[in-house]
Amino acid sequence: MAQKTKTLFTCQQCGLQSPKWLGRCSDCGQWGTLVEETVAVGKQGRPLPNSGSLPQRLTEVAGGAEDRLRCGIEEFDRVLGGGVVPGSLILIGGDPGIGKSTLLLQAADCWAAEKKVLYVTAEESARQVKLRAERLGIAGPELYLLAETSLEAILERTRELLPAFLVVDSIQTVFTAALESAPGSVSQVRECAGRLMHLAKGEGVPTFLIGHVTKDGSIAGPRMLEHMVDTVLYFEGDAGHPFRILRAVKNRFGSTNEIGVFEMKDLGLAEVANPSELFLAERPEGAAGSVVVPAIEGTRPILVELQALVSGAAFGNPRRTAMGIDGNRVSLLVAVLEKKVGYALLAQDIFLNVAGGVRLNEPAVDLGVVAALASSHLNRPVAARTLLFGEVGLAGEVRAVSRPELRVMEAARLGFDRCFLPAGNLKNLKAPRGLKLVGVRTAAEALEGLFA
Ligand code: TYD
Ligand code: MG
Repeated sequence: MAQKTKTLFTCQQCGLQSPKWLGRCSDCGQWGTLVEETVAVGKQGRPLPNSGSLPQRLTEVAGGAEDRLRCGIEEFDRVLGGGVVPGSLILIGGDPGIGKSTLLLQAADCWAAEKKVLYVTAEESARQVKLRAERLGIAGPELYLLAETSLEAILERTRELLPAFLVVDSIQTVFTAALESAPGSVSQVRECAGRLMHLAKGEGVPTFLIGHVTKDGSIAGPRMLEHMVDTVLYFEGDAGHPFRILRAVKNRFGSTNEIGVFEMKDLGLAEVANPSELFLAERPEGAAGSVVVPAIEGTRPILVELQALVSGAAFGNPRRTAMGIDGNRVSLLVAVLEKKVGYALLAQDIFLNVAGGVRLNEPAVDLGVVAALASSHLNRPVAARTLLFGEVGLAGEVRAVSRPELRVMEAARLGFDRCFLPAGNLKNLKAPRGLKLVGVRTAAEALEGLFA
């Protein structure tokens, strides 16, 4: 029976579907994002397809410890939770030009030493990929390239070749003839990803989808994709910095918040095994406003430098700019300094930056922010071998944070000799050799210790 079709208007930002055209999406509020699309509709009331599965005791379900396929790029494997799980679907998002194709080509090369890998290039020609591969010194004997944009052809070739890994670069340029909408539109992206998911689960082929991020930081059609796939990784970085951070924001087979650090070099991406050393390498010694904090990213402690600049505002409203850290959090800490410590910051311009293009979302860096602001305001540097961590509350109190032992170990490893931390974290915490631990109860107490 012929399928009925009808037209719907789909928001290209958030995927909202509406029977009528709207100038402004009623869900995400974006203007001019609704596009007409034709969708096939099944007959109403048709029985749902039945896979024939029956309830089973959890203890009787086969499996358990799944074998993970490691590629040997340690930073990449760790972000995936220790390797790729067979049959999983992984989305890698990032700005154009950040290095997604480079990363996946390098990973494909490692897998291709032993297993068949199919790299579908829907954006660049096979020649272009070959040129890049030559530059990267890639020679995986089992690496196959396919320059193709038609989903049907990709599925057919994959079933023929039966690779151990499939990479689709990128999901926005692949399209299916089953839908009339343009490649990259929400319904195309969703349909293509859905069919690739069936392939991944059905054949047990782990599949990587590369996706571009739009201006506001979400992949086109991301909400649908993010809940469909098993793992969502973002490849981040600043065009002006060589550092790239691979971050897991969703992982059905491992922890999120895990990061992998890379450096973009002439010959591709190089792993950075000791990010703390790298992030502190260019730290100005004895400069007011510069403070080191031990942050935890996933399972790993990383020391990063916070820089603050507090200067008299020229006119009007003072400016508050924060990069790499939540601006609201900084405003809150400025208010605490103003009210609880007694600094006059209301009329000051305040800039805060996390060096190296890292993003920090942990409250444990609060005390570091407070110290950096105070140091710049007082124009007095913090001792070079001192660092601090702790969450700061609205009453100016310093609260205990998680994993203090990891933080102080990393600090001692890099030669720091004094660490201010929440008094609540001191219990049961053994000071590593060479590092003096100073417990504080309030932000004011920490500042007194620093600048007395
Ligand atoms: P690419 O992987 O094409 O980015 P994406 O797929 O995310 O769009 O990376 C392109 C950028 O990386 C380009 O600006 C040049 C840079 N690059 C290097 O610096 N060194 C290299 O060895 C390679 C391959 C790329
Ligand atoms: Mg690319």
